[in-house]
Amino acid sequence: MKKFALTLAIAALPFVATTAQADLDLAKKSGCLACHAVDKKVVGPAWGDVSAKYKGDADARASLIEKVKKGGKGNWTEVTGGVPMPPYSPRVADADIETLVDFVLGLAQ
Ligand code: HEC
Repeated sequence: MKKFALTLAIAALPFVATTAQADLDLAKKSGCLACHAVDKKVVGPAWGDVSAKYKGDADARASLIEKVKKGGKGNWTEVTGGVPMPPYSPRVADADIETLVDFVLGLAQ
């Protein structure tokens, strides 16, 4: 049984890593990484901090999708000094924006 669990864990590992890598590639392709990193503030807040801030907030997914589509400011002023988040729709497809927000929100789970 132990061996089985271990085999499963090893089998799942590359999958998890590949998914995160695909999401990061999408973020890079979409231009997000010019201002964001997972673990530190760049121009925008660290995505890990964004995830922690909205953890357990059921409305966060919808509002963050809107925010990435239309841009906005005022939620991270103490971190960013008031720099706005630019609008990304229609430059980035809606489905990609949803994938990116799910990736960001999933970081603190
Ligand atoms: C030009 C710099 C810049 C780029 C490029 C950028 N962001 Fe941001 N982002 C910001 C700033 C600045 C904030 C903080 C805005 C605020 O204070 O409300 C932010 C905030 C966010 C937030 C948190 C919003 C909130 O209300 O808490 C998310 C999620 C986010 N960005 C995702 C993305 C995604 C996904 C992309 C790529 C499609 C992206 N950002 C590209 C600068 C950027």
